[in-house]
Amino acid sequence: MTKIKKLFETPYGRLLLFVLPHWQIFFISIVAMCMLASTEWMLPALLKPLIDESLDSDNYNIRAIPLLLIVLFLFRGLFSYISTVSLHLVAQKAIEDMRNAMFSKLLRLDIGFFDSNSLGAMVSKFTFDVNQVAEASTKVITVFVKDSLVVLVLLIYLIYLNWQLALLLVLIGPPISFFIVRLSKKMRVMSRNLQSSMGDINEVTEESIRANKEIKVFNTYTKEELRFGIATNKVRKFHIKVVRASAALVPAIQIFVAISIAALIYIALDQASKGLTTKGEFIAFITATALLLPPIKRLAGANEFLQRGIAASQSVCELIDASPELTSTVECPKISKSLIFHNVSFSFGKKMVLSNLSFQIKIGELFALVGPSGGGKSTLLNLLPIFYRPSSGRIILDGLSIDSYSLDSVREQIAYVGQETVLFNTSILGNLVYGCKEHPDSQMIERAIQLANLDKYVNGLPNRLETRVGHNGVKLSGGQRQRLGIARAFLRDASLLILDEPTASLDADSEREIKKSISELKVGRISIVVAHRLSTIKEADKILFINNGTIIESGSHQDLLSKKGHYYNMYKESSQRET
Ligand SMILES: Nc1ncnc2c1ncn2[C@@H]1O[C@H](COP(=O)(O)OP(=O)(O)O)[C@@H](O)[C@H]1O
Ligand SMILES: [Mg+2]
Repeated sequence: MTKIKKLFETPYGRLLLFVLPHWQIFFISIVAMCMLASTEWMLPALLKPLIDESLDSDNYNIRAIPLLLIVLFLFRGLFSYISTVSLHLVAQKAIEDMRNAMFSKLLRLDIGFFDSNSLGAMVSKFTFDVNQVAEASTKVITVFVKDSLVVLVLLIYLIYLNWQLALLLVLIGPPISFFIVRLSKKMRVMSRNLQSSMGDINEVTEESIRANKEIKVFNTYTKEELRFGIATNKVRKFHIKVVRASAALVPAIQIFVAISIAALIYIALDQASKGLTTKGEFIAFITATALLLPPIKRLAGANEFLQRGIAASQSVCELIDASPELTSTVECPKISKSLIFHNVSFSFGKKMVLSNLSFQIKIGELFALVGPSGGGKSTLLNLLPIFYRPSSGRIILDGLSIDSYSLDSVREQIAYVGQETVLFNTSILGNLVYGCKEHPDSQMIERAIQLANLDKYVNGLPNRLETRVGHNGVKLSGGQRQRLGIARAFLRDASLLILDEPTASLDADSEREIKKSISELKVGRISIVVAHRLSTIKEADKILFINNGTIIESGSHQDLLSKKGHYYNMYKESSQRET
């Protein structure tokens, strides 16, 4: 039992788990493969009587051969078709399940996973690695099932035909295959070197195109030419190496094969002179030997696919096995009282970003966070949707720790506008209602657009709400993108409104409008705004000045001005800049 459990923990065992649901098709494929392999000896067997027996018109054995040949290939064609299609069907079904499992996991991963894995590596798991898994495992299965059976069947046939010749074959076969495999491996290493040296050419070319202005200004033509020269020189050398090797490989193999056939012929002639073998037997023997070579070559190379498949499936399993966000099952009721930070600290690894924050916001209040960049404002906001959890201290919603609620039910109460607005490549409307459980009526949509000061822009568009925004909203200006993000948050009508520098890319007019809207919306909810321009936050019920992860000043606008501290200085500087 434990052995079976262990098997399912190995990379190939993990793949089995994805194949298991489709075992019927897999079974059909294996059976078809076995049928195909077990008929391999029949072609040389059909040739034998053609040479040995008299070709008289009344020899019905001979007359039947053309017909049998057609029947044989019809059968083989059918089995080959069934085995190939069904094996790929299983592989593709397994890939489909695997990709879907990976994607579901991807969506639910801890945010920390995204901080420590590059986008490219993650995407290539979905595209390259999964394909590698399928390709390698179908190859490995085909080779191990079909080819090994073909070799077995042909060897039995050869021994049956002429055991002395077969013995010779068994003696000289393995060293030759070993030699061929070694040479092919060397060739592969060389091709890989060639590929990477081509990469150097790409890199220098790309960089020179990108930096063409710098190269002109710095007058570094010779330097770049030298760099490029080294790369092209390397490519030439590797290329010639590959050509030399492959040019030598083919004749070398041919010489080996010729020597073996010569030895076979020599012995066969000797046997024939003693009446121990016939011409037909010899031809059948040579044909069967020729048929033996390709599957042996594939068997010898199978390890490479096996290794490639293992590496790829490890990479895939890394994602499938990554731990999702922890969550509880307790539903968070609609927030109706307060949000409390109680001695909250947070660090990224060893780096302390927030230390000992305590404050309380009551429903209906608007808090503003200000302070120098890098102070920890965005990080503080990220604790509310539980993107990260505090290292110590507690965040309390209506008297209960946020940790005791399920993630989904906490997030449902939040409307969040991040520092950068992320839009989906669909229509303005599609982006607006993204995240709404039920499609809001047109009145609600109109109001959200108005509140975000987006109405004039939308009404000026020929397709209004149906206008497509392009990839991540490239067809919109920075300010329009941001206002769309704000409208989306307003439409959500959540108890906790979190805005991280919502007006950073807005002009003064739009900013004033949105400031008004936030003040209107604050009734019945808890609002926290990180403010870029200080004029936005004068009306906040409380301002927290955050520097180096601690609240160094807090109070209303007037309180803080009269303190003549950090806020006062920042305000003075910023109003001078704004006027
Ligand atoms: N994902 C992250 N991993 C590690 N450090 C981070 C991460 N995000 C932010 N930080 C660090 O945390 C500190 C606070 O950042 P942030 O909360 O974005 O500041 P603010 O929003 O006040 O400008 C910065 O020093 C920043 O370098
Ligand atoms: Mg920030």
